[in-house]
Amino acid sequence: MDKIVSLCKRRGFVFPSSEIYGGLGSTYDYGHYGVLLKQNVKAEWWRAMLQERDDIVALDAAILMHPRTWEASGHLAGFTDPLVDCRTCKQRFRADHIETSACGRKPSKRPGETPDCDLTDPRDFNLMFQTTLGPVKESGATVYLRPETAQGIFVNFKNYLQFSRKKPPFGIAQIGKSFRNEITPGNFVFRTREFEQMEMEYFVPPDEAPKWFEHWLEQRINWYTELGLRPDHLRLRAHAPDELSHYSSATSDVEYLFPIGWSELEGIANRGNFDLTRHAEFSGQKLEYVDTASGERYVPHVIEPAAGADRAALAFLVDAYDEDEIGDEARTVLRLHPRLAPVKVAVLPLVKKDGQPEVAAQIHRELRGRMSAEYDEGGAIGRRYRRQDEIGTPFGVTVDHQTLEDHTVTVRERDSLVQERVPVTELADELERRLRAPWSSPKLAGV
Ligand code: GAP
Repeated sequence: MDKIVSLCKRRGFVFPSSEIYGGLGSTYDYGHYGVLLKQNVKAEWWRAMLQERDDIVALDAAILMHPRTWEASGHLAGFTDPLVDCRTCKQRFRADHIETSACGRKPSKRPGETPDCDLTDPRDFNLMFQTTLGPVKESGATVYLRPETAQGIFVNFKNYLQFSRKKPPFGIAQIGKSFRNEITPGNFVFRTREFEQMEMEYFVPPDEAPKWFEHWLEQRINWYTELGLRPDHLRLRAHAPDELSHYSSATSDVEYLFPIGWSELEGIANRGNFDLTRHAEFSGQKLEYVDTASGERYVPHVIEPAAGADRAALAFLVDAYDEDEIGDEARTVLRLHPRLAPVKVAVLPLVKKDGQPEVAAQIHRELRGRMSAEYDEGGAIGRRYRRQDEIGTPFGVTVDHQTLEDHTVTVRERDSLVQERVPVTELADELERRLRAPWSSPKLAGV
Protein backbone atom coordinates (compact mmCIF):
# COMPACT_ATOMS: atom_id res chain seq x y z
CA MET A 1 0.00 0.00 0.00
CA ASP A 2 2.89 2.38 0.77
CA LYS A 3 4.12 2.06 -2.80
CA ILE A 4 0.66 2.87 -4.17
CA VAL A 5 0.29 5.89 -1.87
CA SER A 6 3.70 7.17 -2.91
CA LEU A 7 3.04 6.67 -6.64
CA CYS A 8 -0.35 8.38 -6.28
CA LYS A 9 1.29 11.45 -4.77
CA ARG A 10 4.30 11.50 -7.10
CA ARG A 11 2.26 11.15 -10.26
CA GLY A 12 -0.69 13.32 -9.29
CA PHE A 13 -3.43 10.75 -8.66
CA VAL A 14 -4.29 11.46 -5.01
CA PHE A 15 -3.08 13.96 -2.38
CA PRO A 16 -3.96 14.30 1.30
CA SER A 17 -6.60 17.03 1.57
CA SER A 18 -5.49 20.53 2.72
CA GLU A 19 -1.96 19.20 2.96
CA ILE A 20 -0.31 22.58 3.53
CA TYR A 21 -2.22 22.74 6.83
CA GLY A 22 -1.12 19.25 7.81
CA GLY A 23 -4.03 17.44 6.15
CA LEU A 24 -7.51 16.64 7.43
CA GLY A 25 -8.05 13.16 8.86
CA SER A 26 -8.84 10.66 6.14
CA THR A 27 -9.92 13.08 3.45
CA TYR A 28 -8.20 13.15 0.07
CA ASP A 29 -8.05 15.26 -3.07
CA TYR A 30 -7.88 13.65 -6.48
CA GLY A 31 -5.25 15.08 -8.78
CA HIS A 32 -5.39 15.14 -12.59
CA TYR A 33 -4.76 11.43 -13.27
CA GLY A 34 -6.86 10.36 -10.28
CA VAL A 35 -9.78 12.39 -11.64
CA LEU A 36 -9.43 10.71 -15.03
CA LEU A 37 -9.12 7.22 -13.50
CA LYS A 38 -12.14 7.61 -11.21
CA GLN A 39 -14.10 9.19 -14.08
CA ASN A 40 -13.39 6.09 -16.18
CA VAL A 41 -14.46 3.77 -13.34
CA LYS A 42 -17.74 5.66 -13.03
CA ALA A 43 -18.24 5.73 -16.81
CA GLU A 44 -17.81 1.94 -16.93
CA TRP A 45 -20.39 1.58 -14.15
CA TRP A 46 -22.86 3.78 -16.05
CA ARG A 47 -22.14 1.80 -19.19
CA ALA A 48 -22.96 -1.50 -17.44
CA MET A 49 -26.06 -0.09 -15.72
CA LEU A 50 -27.56 2.11 -18.43
CA GLN A 51 -26.04 1.65 -21.86
CA GLU A 52 -25.92 -2.13 -21.90
CA ARG A 53 -29.40 -2.65 -20.38
CA ASP A 54 -32.82 -1.18 -20.94
CA ASP A 55 -34.32 -1.81 -17.48
CA ILE A 56 -32.37 0.83 -15.50
CA VAL A 57 -32.72 4.61 -15.38
CA ALA A 58 -30.50 7.29 -13.82
CA LEU A 59 -30.91 9.73 -10.94
CA ASP A 60 -28.82 12.48 -9.35
CA ALA A 61 -30.52 13.34 -6.04
CA ALA A 62 -29.56 16.16 -3.65
CA ILE A 63 -27.07 15.39 -0.88
CA LEU A 64 -29.22 17.23 1.67
CA MET A 65 -32.55 15.51 2.20
CA HIS A 66 -35.58 16.10 4.40
CA PRO A 67 -34.57 15.00 7.93
CA ARG A 68 -37.57 12.65 8.13
CA THR A 69 -35.80 10.57 5.47
CA TRP A 70 -33.28 9.43 8.06
CA GLU A 71 -35.92 8.63 10.64
CA ALA A 72 -37.73 6.46 8.11
CA SER A 73 -34.56 4.79 6.85
CA GLY A 74 -33.48 3.87 10.37
CA HIS A 75 -30.21 5.81 10.13
CA LEU A 76 -31.05 8.29 12.87
CA ALA A 77 -31.69 5.54 15.38
CA GLY A 78 -29.42 2.81 14.13
CA PHE A 79 -26.52 4.07 12.01
CA THR A 80 -24.18 4.03 14.97
CA ASP A 81 -20.93 2.54 16.15
CA PRO A 82 -20.47 1.59 19.82
CA LEU A 83 -17.62 3.69 21.26
CA VAL A 84 -15.50 3.34 24.34
CA ASP A 85 -13.46 6.22 25.82
CA CYS A 86 -10.32 5.80 27.91
CA ARG A 87 -10.28 8.40 30.72
CA THR A 88 -6.52 7.93 31.11
CA CYS A 89 -5.17 8.32 27.57
CA LYS A 90 -8.23 10.29 26.30
CA GLN A 91 -8.51 8.12 23.18
CA ARG A 92 -11.70 6.74 21.71
CA PHE A 93 -12.10 3.21 20.34
CA ARG A 94 -14.76 1.18 18.61
CA ALA A 95 -16.03 -1.27 21.22
CA ASP A 96 -16.20 -4.04 18.63
CA HIS A 97 -12.56 -3.39 17.55
CA ILE A 98 -10.95 -3.27 21.03
CA GLU A 99 -9.09 -6.52 20.50
CA THR A 100 -7.28 -5.15 17.43
CA SER A 101 -6.90 -1.50 18.55
CA ALA A 102 -3.77 0.16 19.89
CA CYS A 103 -4.02 2.78 22.64
CA GLY A 104 -2.23 6.10 22.90
CA ARG A 105 0.61 4.87 25.12
CA LYS A 106 4.16 4.22 24.13
CA PRO A 107 4.89 1.42 23.63
CA SER A 108 1.37 0.98 22.36
CA LYS A 109 -0.95 -1.31 24.29
CA ARG A 110 -4.35 -2.80 23.65
CA PRO A 111 -7.05 -0.64 25.34
CA GLY A 112 -7.80 -2.15 28.74
CA GLU A 113 -4.56 -4.13 28.83
CA THR A 114 -2.91 -2.26 31.71
CA PRO A 115 -4.35 -1.67 35.21
CA ASP A 116 -4.45 2.14 34.73
CA CYS A 117 -6.52 1.92 31.52
CA ASP A 118 -9.87 3.42 32.55
CA LEU A 119 -12.47 2.52 29.92
CA THR A 120 -16.05 3.81 29.88
CA ASP A 121 -19.01 1.60 28.99
CA PRO A 122 -19.76 1.56 25.24
CA ARG A 123 -21.95 4.43 23.99
CA ASP A 124 -23.62 4.67 20.59
CA PHE A 125 -22.16 7.31 18.28
CA ASN A 126 -24.13 8.27 15.14
CA LEU A 127 -21.98 8.36 12.00
CA MET A 128 -24.02 11.01 10.17
CA PHE A 129 -22.59 14.53 9.82
CA GLN A 130 -25.03 17.22 10.90
CA THR A 131 -25.45 20.73 9.66
CA THR A 132 -28.10 23.45 9.88
CA LEU A 133 -30.47 24.51 7.12
CA GLY A 134 -30.94 28.28 7.20
CA PRO A 135 -28.77 31.08 8.55
CA VAL A 136 -29.51 30.74 12.26
CA LYS A 137 -28.06 27.72 13.98
CA GLU A 138 -30.44 27.83 16.93
CA SER A 139 -33.70 28.11 14.98
CA GLY A 140 -32.68 26.33 11.76
CA ALA A 141 -33.54 22.75 11.00
CA THR A 142 -30.93 20.09 11.61
CA VAL A 143 -30.15 18.27 8.38
CA TYR A 144 -27.65 15.55 7.59
CA LEU A 145 -25.12 14.93 4.87
CA ARG A 146 -26.41 11.69 3.36
CA PRO A 147 -24.54 8.59 4.56
CA GLU A 148 -25.68 6.61 1.49
CA THR A 149 -27.08 7.61 -1.90
CA ALA A 150 -29.75 4.89 -1.77
CA GLN A 151 -32.37 6.93 0.12
CA GLY A 152 -32.48 9.52 -2.68
CA ILE A 153 -33.66 6.69 -4.91
CA PHE A 154 -36.38 5.40 -2.57
CA VAL A 155 -37.91 8.84 -2.00
CA ASN A 156 -38.12 9.31 -5.78
CA PHE A 157 -39.73 5.91 -6.45
CA LYS A 158 -43.16 7.43 -7.11
CA ASN A 159 -41.77 10.00 -9.58
CA TYR A 160 -40.07 7.21 -11.50
CA LEU A 161 -43.20 5.06 -11.70
CA GLN A 162 -45.00 8.05 -13.18
CA PHE A 163 -42.50 9.22 -15.78
CA SER A 164 -40.25 6.32 -16.70
CA ARG A 165 -42.87 3.87 -18.06
CA LYS A 166 -41.04 1.07 -16.24
CA LYS A 167 -42.57 -1.71 -14.24
CA PRO A 168 -40.82 -4.16 -11.92
CA PRO A 169 -38.29 -5.54 -12.48
CA PHE A 170 -36.56 -2.22 -13.11
CA GLY A 171 -33.77 -0.25 -11.47
CA ILE A 172 -32.74 3.30 -10.59
CA ALA A 173 -29.00 4.00 -10.56
CA GLN A 174 -27.11 6.85 -8.98
CA ILE A 175 -23.52 7.97 -8.42
CA GLY A 176 -22.79 10.58 -5.80
CA LYS A 177 -20.98 11.65 -2.67
CA SER A 178 -21.81 10.18 0.71
CA PHE A 179 -20.44 11.16 4.12
CA ARG A 180 -19.79 9.15 7.26
CA ASN A 181 -18.03 10.29 10.38
CA GLU A 182 -16.08 7.03 10.48
CA ILE A 183 -14.35 6.33 13.80
CA THR A 184 -11.59 4.24 12.36
CA PRO A 185 -11.01 5.49 8.83
CA GLY A 186 -7.77 4.69 7.13
CA ASN A 187 -5.85 2.65 4.62
CA PHE A 188 -5.63 5.54 2.18
CA VAL A 189 -8.86 5.99 0.18
CA PHE A 190 -10.24 2.61 1.31
CA ARG A 191 -12.23 4.15 4.18
CA THR A 192 -12.69 7.91 4.22
CA ARG A 193 -15.23 10.30 5.67
CA GLU A 194 -16.28 11.66 2.27
CA PHE A 195 -16.54 9.21 -0.60
CA GLU A 196 -18.42 8.44 -3.78
CA GLN A 197 -20.93 5.64 -4.04
CA MET A 198 -22.29 3.92 -7.14
CA GLU A 199 -25.63 2.44 -6.06
CA MET A 200 -28.50 0.86 -7.92
CA GLU A 201 -31.85 -0.11 -6.42
CA TYR A 202 -33.54 -2.83 -8.45
CA PHE A 203 -37.30 -3.08 -7.77
CA VAL A 204 -38.76 -6.55 -8.30
CA PRO A 205 -41.98 -8.50 -7.66
CA PRO A 206 -41.56 -9.95 -4.13
CA ASP A 207 -41.43 -13.60 -5.19
CA GLU A 208 -38.64 -12.85 -7.71
CA ALA A 209 -36.24 -11.29 -5.18
CA PRO A 210 -34.04 -14.39 -4.61
CA LYS A 211 -33.60 -14.89 -8.36
CA TRP A 212 -32.56 -11.26 -8.94
CA PHE A 213 -30.23 -11.34 -5.94
CA GLU A 214 -28.31 -14.18 -7.63
CA HIS A 215 -28.42 -12.31 -10.94
CA TRP A 216 -26.77 -9.23 -9.46
CA LEU A 217 -24.10 -11.22 -7.61
CA GLU A 218 -23.01 -12.65 -10.95
CA GLN A 219 -23.28 -9.36 -12.86
CA ARG A 220 -21.23 -7.42 -10.38
CA ILE A 221 -18.38 -9.89 -10.03
CA ASN A 222 -18.22 -10.08 -13.84
CA TRP A 223 -17.96 -6.29 -14.03
CA TYR A 224 -14.78 -6.31 -11.96
CA THR A 225 -13.17 -9.19 -13.84
CA GLU A 226 -14.03 -7.74 -17.25
CA LEU A 227 -12.27 -4.56 -16.19
CA GLY A 228 -9.18 -6.58 -15.44
CA LEU A 229 -9.19 -7.40 -11.72
CA ARG A 230 -7.54 -10.78 -11.31
CA PRO A 231 -10.23 -13.39 -10.57
CA ASP A 232 -8.04 -15.07 -7.95
CA HIS A 233 -8.04 -11.75 -6.03
CA LEU A 234 -11.86 -11.53 -6.00
CA ARG A 235 -14.44 -13.48 -4.06
CA LEU A 236 -18.03 -13.32 -2.85
CA ARG A 237 -18.65 -13.61 0.87
CA ALA A 238 -22.14 -14.06 2.29
CA HIS A 239 -22.87 -12.14 5.51
CA ALA A 240 -23.60 -14.19 8.61
CA PRO A 241 -27.03 -13.41 10.17
CA ASP A 242 -25.47 -11.27 12.95
CA GLU A 243 -23.64 -9.10 10.37
CA LEU A 244 -26.72 -8.13 8.35
CA SER A 245 -27.78 -4.45 8.28
CA HIS A 246 -31.16 -3.63 9.83
CA TYR A 247 -32.83 -3.58 6.38
CA SER A 248 -31.31 -6.68 4.85
CA SER A 249 -32.46 -10.30 4.68
CA ALA A 250 -29.38 -11.37 2.70
CA THR A 251 -26.14 -9.61 1.78
CA SER A 252 -23.02 -10.77 0.01
CA ASP A 253 -19.89 -8.70 -0.31
CA VAL A 254 -17.66 -8.65 -3.34
CA GLU A 255 -14.26 -8.77 -1.65
CA TYR A 256 -10.85 -7.98 -3.10
CA LEU A 257 -7.52 -9.15 -1.76
CA PHE A 258 -6.09 -5.72 -0.87
CA PRO A 259 -2.61 -5.47 0.69
CA ILE A 260 -4.53 -5.16 4.01
CA GLY A 261 -6.19 -8.55 3.36
CA TRP A 262 -9.59 -9.56 1.95
CA SER A 263 -11.84 -6.49 2.25
CA GLU A 264 -15.21 -5.32 0.99
CA LEU A 265 -15.35 -3.72 -2.43
CA GLU A 266 -19.11 -3.74 -2.84
CA GLY A 267 -22.15 -5.00 -0.95
CA ILE A 268 -25.10 -6.66 -2.70
CA ALA A 269 -28.16 -6.73 -0.46
CA ASN A 270 -31.72 -8.01 -0.56
CA ARG A 271 -33.43 -5.06 1.17
CA GLY A 272 -36.90 -6.61 0.87
CA ASN A 273 -39.65 -3.98 1.05
CA PHE A 274 -38.13 -2.31 4.14
CA ASP A 275 -37.38 1.11 2.63
CA LEU A 276 -40.52 1.64 0.55
CA THR A 277 -42.72 0.50 3.43
CA ARG A 278 -41.01 2.82 5.91
CA HIS A 279 -41.08 5.85 3.58
CA ALA A 280 -44.77 5.17 2.88
CA GLU A 281 -45.41 5.10 6.62
CA PHE A 282 -43.43 8.27 7.39
CA SER A 283 -44.59 10.32 4.38
CA GLY A 284 -48.18 9.15 4.22
CA GLN A 285 -47.76 8.48 0.49
CA LYS A 286 -48.56 5.18 -1.22
CA LEU A 287 -45.34 3.68 -2.53
CA GLU A 288 -46.49 0.60 -4.39
CA TYR A 289 -46.77 -0.73 -7.89
CA VAL A 290 -50.23 -1.18 -9.40
CA ASP A 291 -50.58 -3.24 -12.53
CA THR A 292 -53.26 -1.40 -14.49
CA ALA A 293 -54.16 -4.48 -16.56
CA SER A 294 -54.59 -7.02 -13.76
CA GLY A 295 -55.29 -4.66 -10.85
CA GLU A 296 -52.56 -6.43 -8.89
CA ARG A 297 -50.80 -4.16 -6.36
CA TYR A 298 -47.70 -4.78 -4.29
CA VAL A 299 -44.74 -3.09 -2.65
CA PRO A 300 -41.73 -4.17 -4.72
CA HIS A 301 -38.75 -5.80 -3.06
CA VAL A 302 -35.33 -4.30 -3.70
CA ILE A 303 -32.00 -5.81 -4.67
CA GLU A 304 -29.16 -3.32 -4.16
CA PRO A 305 -25.65 -3.54 -5.58
CA ALA A 306 -23.81 -0.78 -3.66
CA ALA A 307 -20.25 -0.03 -4.71
CA GLY A 308 -17.69 2.64 -3.84
CA ALA A 309 -16.02 4.55 -6.67
CA ASP A 310 -12.95 5.37 -4.56
CA ARG A 311 -12.59 1.83 -3.28
CA ALA A 312 -12.99 0.41 -6.78
CA ALA A 313 -10.38 2.86 -8.13
CA LEU A 314 -8.02 1.78 -5.33
CA ALA A 315 -8.56 -1.91 -6.15
CA PHE A 316 -7.82 -1.25 -9.83
CA LEU A 317 -4.65 0.63 -8.84
CA VAL A 318 -3.48 -2.10 -6.48
CA ASP A 319 -4.18 -4.82 -9.02
CA ALA A 320 -2.39 -2.86 -11.74
CA TYR A 321 0.76 -1.94 -9.81
CA ASP A 322 3.78 -3.84 -11.05
CA GLU A 323 7.56 -3.59 -11.16
CA ASP A 324 9.75 -5.15 -13.82
CA GLU A 325 12.99 -4.50 -15.66
CA ILE A 326 13.65 -3.27 -19.17
CA GLY A 327 17.22 -4.09 -20.07
CA ASP A 328 18.95 -3.43 -16.77
CA GLU A 329 16.62 -0.66 -15.76
CA ALA A 330 13.85 -1.05 -13.19
CA ARG A 331 10.44 0.26 -14.17
CA THR A 332 7.21 0.78 -12.29
CA VAL A 333 4.16 0.20 -14.41
CA LEU A 334 0.41 0.43 -13.87
CA ARG A 335 -1.11 -2.41 -15.85
CA LEU A 336 -4.56 -0.87 -15.92
CA HIS A 337 -7.25 -2.08 -18.27
CA PRO A 338 -6.91 0.26 -21.28
CA ARG A 339 -10.51 1.44 -20.80
CA LEU A 340 -9.64 2.59 -17.26
CA ALA A 341 -6.26 4.13 -18.05
CA PRO A 342 -6.31 7.91 -17.44
CA VAL A 343 -4.40 8.56 -20.69
CA LYS A 344 -4.87 6.19 -23.63
CA VAL A 345 -1.98 7.29 -25.79
CA ALA A 346 1.17 9.39 -25.49
CA VAL A 347 2.62 10.90 -28.65
CA LEU A 348 6.38 11.38 -28.48
CA PRO A 349 8.84 12.70 -31.04
CA LEU A 350 12.01 10.60 -30.85
CA VAL A 351 14.15 13.75 -30.94
CA LYS A 352 13.33 17.41 -30.49
CA LYS A 353 14.49 18.44 -33.97
CA ASP A 354 14.32 17.62 -37.71
CA GLY A 355 10.60 18.51 -37.86
CA GLN A 356 9.62 15.59 -35.60
CA PRO A 357 7.96 17.72 -32.86
CA GLU A 358 5.74 19.47 -35.43
CA VAL A 359 4.57 16.16 -36.97
CA ALA A 360 4.04 14.59 -33.52
CA ALA A 361 2.08 17.62 -32.28
CA GLN A 362 -0.18 17.41 -35.35
CA ILE A 363 -0.81 13.68 -34.73
CA HIS A 364 -1.59 14.48 -31.09
CA ARG A 365 -4.09 17.16 -32.10
CA GLU A 366 -5.85 14.64 -34.37
CA LEU A 367 -5.93 11.88 -31.74
CA ARG A 368 -7.14 13.93 -28.79
CA GLY A 369 -10.56 14.49 -30.37
CA ARG A 370 -11.11 10.71 -30.13
CA MET A 371 -9.33 9.66 -26.92
CA SER A 372 -7.44 11.02 -23.95
CA ALA A 373 -3.97 11.75 -25.37
CA GLU A 374 -0.78 13.46 -24.18
CA TYR A 375 2.08 15.04 -26.07
CA ASP A 376 5.56 15.00 -24.53
CA GLU A 377 8.78 16.15 -26.16
CA GLY A 378 10.97 16.86 -23.11
CA GLY A 379 13.87 14.59 -22.08
CA ALA A 380 15.22 11.22 -23.17
CA ILE A 381 12.70 8.93 -24.87
CA GLY A 382 13.24 6.18 -22.28
CA ARG A 383 12.36 8.51 -19.43
CA ARG A 384 9.25 9.73 -21.24
CA TYR A 385 8.09 6.11 -21.73
CA ARG A 386 8.79 5.37 -18.06
CA ARG A 387 6.62 8.30 -17.00
CA GLN A 388 3.74 7.07 -19.14
CA ASP A 389 4.20 3.52 -17.80
CA GLU A 390 3.83 4.86 -14.27
CA ILE A 391 0.46 6.44 -15.05
CA GLY A 392 -0.67 3.35 -16.95
CA THR A 393 -0.80 4.71 -20.52
CA PRO A 394 -1.36 1.60 -22.67
CA PHE A 395 0.03 2.97 -25.96
CA GLY A 396 3.02 5.11 -26.88
CA VAL A 397 3.24 6.53 -30.40
CA THR A 398 6.71 7.55 -31.49
CA VAL A 399 7.47 9.82 -34.40
CA ASP A 400 10.95 9.25 -35.84
CA HIS A 401 12.95 10.02 -38.97
CA GLN A 402 11.10 7.27 -40.88
CA THR A 403 7.76 8.96 -40.13
CA LEU A 404 8.85 11.93 -42.22
CA GLU A 405 9.64 9.60 -45.13
CA ASP A 406 6.76 7.09 -45.15
CA HIS A 407 4.10 8.51 -42.80
CA THR A 408 4.24 5.62 -40.37
CA VAL A 409 4.77 5.73 -36.60
CA THR A 410 5.68 3.08 -34.05
CA VAL A 411 3.03 2.01 -31.57
CA ARG A 412 4.53 0.65 -28.36
CA GLU A 413 2.44 -1.49 -26.02
CA ARG A 414 2.90 -0.83 -22.32
CA ASP A 415 2.53 -4.48 -21.26
CA SER A 416 4.25 -6.51 -23.96
CA LEU A 417 6.65 -3.70 -24.99
CA VAL A 418 6.06 -4.84 -28.59
CA GLN A 419 6.53 -2.03 -31.10
CA GLU A 420 4.79 -2.06 -34.47
CA ARG A 421 4.76 0.40 -37.34
CA VAL A 422 1.33 1.74 -38.24
CA PRO A 423 0.42 4.22 -41.02
CA VAL A 424 -0.58 7.59 -39.56
CA THR A 425 -3.81 7.47 -41.58
CA GLU A 426 -4.86 4.28 -39.76
CA LEU A 427 -3.58 5.22 -36.31
CA ALA A 428 -6.75 6.46 -34.58
CA ASP A 429 -8.87 3.53 -35.86
CA GLU A 430 -6.18 1.04 -34.87
CA LEU A 431 -5.88 2.49 -31.34
CA GLU A 432 -9.65 2.50 -30.88
CA ARG A 433 -9.79 -1.12 -32.00
CA ARG A 434 -7.13 -2.05 -29.43
CA LEU A 435 -8.90 -0.06 -26.69
CA ARG A 436 -12.11 -2.00 -27.31
CA ALA A 437 -10.43 -5.42 -27.41
CA PRO A 438 -10.83 -7.80 -24.42
CA TRP A 439 -7.95 -7.42 -21.98
CA SER A 440 -6.69 -9.48 -19.06
CA SER A 441 -3.94 -8.66 -16.62
CA PRO A 442 -0.47 -9.82 -17.73
CA LYS A 443 0.22 -10.33 -14.00
CA LEU A 444 -2.05 -13.39 -14.28
CA ALA A 445 0.39 -15.06 -16.63
CA GLY A 446 3.25 -14.10 -14.35
CA VAL A 447 4.74 -11.69 -16.90
N1 GAP B 1 -26.69 1.60 0.55
C1 GAP B 1 -25.93 0.54 1.12
C2 GAP B 1 -24.63 0.96 1.58
O1 GAP B 1 -24.32 2.13 1.66
P1 GAP B 1 -22.34 0.05 2.43
O2 GAP B 1 -21.81 -1.37 2.41
O3 GAP B 1 -22.32 0.76 3.72
O4 GAP B 1 -23.81 -0.08 1.85
C3 GAP B 1 -21.50 0.48 0.00
O5 GAP B 1 -21.58 0.90 1.34
C4 GAP B 1 -20.10 0.69 -0.54
O6 GAP B 1 -19.71 2.06 -0.36
C5 GAP B 1 -19.01 -0.11 0.18
O7 GAP B 1 -18.93 -1.43 -0.32
C6 GAP B 1 -17.77 0.70 -0.16
O8 GAP B 1 -17.30 0.38 -1.45
C7 GAP B 1 -18.31 2.12 -0.15
N2 GAP B 1 -18.03 2.74 1.16
C8 GAP B 1 -18.76 2.65 2.28
N3 GAP B 1 -18.18 3.35 3.28
C9 GAP B 1 -17.06 3.90 2.77
C10 GAP B 1 -16.03 4.74 3.30
N4 GAP B 1 -16.05 5.19 4.55
N5 GAP B 1 -14.99 5.11 2.48
C11 GAP B 1 -14.96 4.68 1.20
N6 GAP B 1 -15.91 3.90 0.64
C12 GAP B 1 -16.95 3.50 1.41
